[in-house]
Amino acid sequence: MEFEFSAGILVYRRNAGELEFLFLKNKDGWLDFPKGHIEESEHALEAAVRETLEETGLRIKPDVFFRKDSYYWFLRGKTRIKKRLTMFLGEAKSGSVVTVSDEHIGYAWLRQEHALKELKFRDQIDFIRAATEYIGRRAEIDELNESYAGLWKKQKRWDLSRNFVPGYGPVNAEIMLIGQAPGAEEDKQGKPFVGRSGVLLTSLLEKAGLDRNRIYITSTVQFFPPKNRVPDKTEIGLCLPFLMRQVEIIDPELIILVGAVSAKALANVEHVAHNHGTLKSYNGRKFFITLHPAAAVRIRTNMQLIESDFIKLGRILKEV
Ligand code: URA
Repeated sequence: MEFEFSAGILVYRRNAGELEFLFLKNKDGWLDFPKGHIEESEHALEAAVRETLEETGLRIKPDVFFRKDSYYWFLRGKTRIKKRLTMFLGEAKSGSVVTVSDEHIGYAWLRQEHALKELKFRDQIDFIRAATEYIGRRAEIDELNESYAGLWKKQKRWDLSRNFVPGYGPVNAEIMLIGQAPGAEEDKQGKPFVGRSGVLLTSLLEKAGLDRNRIYITSTVQFFPPKNRVPDKTEIGLCLPFLMRQVEIIDPELIILVGAVSAKALANVEHVAHNHGTLKSYNGRKFFITLHPAAAVRIRTNMQLIESDFIKLGRILKEV
């Protein structure tokens, strides 16, 4: 048996408020996605972007957090080939014009219901279903975050930064991680955990066997409190309904709470020092409680505690 790898992009657009996916028509009549062989020098994402450009004329920037693999087998002569297809997801800019290469005889933009009737292969149907669900969640998060980002406009008194630092990661993540509030670097870059605590967080997640890119990472309060002070009760109270709604949309199986602010706000844990390294169920959700990485950056003796919590988390995840 031989192995081959291909990659493509599920391209979508919004047409008069409706979601439509792009399909290419093969010479024998069936519908396919823009996709093709991954060259040795390429990553799957690069191959997907190149193939899509070659086959459709569209330069698509995929959502880096949607990636779905499927496997199938076929015969070439007498050789059995196992193929891995990696699909990404990307939106075509409105007004984009498709130009099909010689490999195909045409193209079609189809709505989900129509596509599901026309498609020939199980994995194509799974890709479309997963993509539709993902796009829906992304749109809900974006809409919610738009009103969250403007929260300060409705307040008489607002001491936090006015720069909104939204969560970052796949909107269908199985694991979510929630900290306290962005720091100065996060405020500047508009992304959570990109400063010193963020560097430590990435290595702690690795200790648990977790890839940071597969986790939805955010903070209890998603605006920087000047001088890095702890957000007060009023600020947490204003921001919490938005966080709760984000949790509902992402609907993770486990939430890692780092530090006292998120542990209290989400899981009603009073003392992180007594509860770190433990799982807790609260309000129908499962939480893992640990210290905030900033506590280990500031106080070196906390480093061992936080590292052993993440190693323990890795063991727990392996068991479930
Ligand atoms: N600490 C947090 O809680 N959030 C960030 O984004 C960065 C540091």
